[in-house]
Amino acid sequence: MQALVEIQGVRKRFGRQEVLRHIDLTLEPGCITGLLGPSGSGKTTIVNLIVGSITKTAGTITVLGKPAPPQGVRKEMGFMPQSEALYNDLTAGENLNFFGALYGMSKKQLAVAIPRVLGLVRLGDEGKKVVASFSGGMKRRLSLAIALLHQPRLLVLDEPTIGLDPLHRVELWKSFYALAREGSGLLITTHVMDEALGCDKLIMIHDGRIIAQGSPEELIVQAGTETLEEAFLRFEELEAESEAEDNTGEKPKHGRGSPLAHISRIRGGGGDA
Ligand SMILES: Nc1ncnc2c1ncn2[C@@H]1O[C@H](COP(=O)(O)OP(=O)(O)OP(=O)(O)O)[C@@H](O)[C@H]1O
Ligand SMILES: [Mg+2]
Repeated sequence: MQALVEIQGVRKRFGRQEVLRHIDLTLEPGCITGLLGPSGSGKTTIVNLIVGSITKTAGTITVLGKPAPPQGVRKEMGFMPQSEALYNDLTAGENLNFFGALYGMSKKQLAVAIPRVLGLVRLGDEGKKVVASFSGGMKRRLSLAIALLHQPRLLVLDEPTIGLDPLHRVELWKSFYALAREGSGLLITTHVMDEALGCDKLIMIHDGRIIAQGSPEELIVQAGTETLEEAFLRFEELEAESEAEDNTGEKPKHGRGSPLAHISRIRGGGGDA
């Protein structure tokens, strides 16, 4: 099956600061991929490259079969940015109508889709309220509703559950699983470990580099730890050791004892399929 997103050898610089260094990743249909890393590690930068709001410094990015920035495929993508892009003086329903029209949805389609997504994010009774009166969590949920409106086959969600209470979080995860079961591919950034455990595949990122990828179970087994949090710390240590060895000249990232190489081995080779 064709990958939804393929990123190879991507680097990103902001001025003189290199914030992404040799990123390789693949997003598959029917799979929830988590991007896990501390604040400032580069998660939003990867997301922004995929949705085309910034451009890469080097490498290749293919989104839904087209080179990024993706033209002509935006209607097949849903995006929830880390900071809400909502119109505060419009109601929730008016926001959904506006963004739905941008996705090319007809009035008839919107009449069905808007109540569906408002129900999904538990804002069914708030559609007529002005967004300025919403709490932070309500704005988050409306932003997610916008991303889900046109049932895209690729969903990119930047910290979708931050600011939500545990009940809403569980409900949203149920809807993520339902979407993946129907064949959509999801990329979800998070720093919440128990949320990361719910992903089919995790990509651990530290300081602009992928330090490990695999299923949460594989990563825990590979790191020889009891929890995902400990596994993350272990991979960070391995990365620091590997970098210390390499600091006289750059060696391939997948060589030797790099965690990525181990994971790749237990997954049966270089691919993610
Ligand atoms: N537009 C920009 N100009 C300059 N530097 C930037 C820009 N956007 C991001 N950065 C820098 O890139 C690095 C990665 O930022 P990014 O927002 O991708 O991190 P993140 O992993 O999403 O963090 P968080 O968990 O806090 O959202 C940071 O050092 C940040 O300061
Ligand atoms: Mg971010």
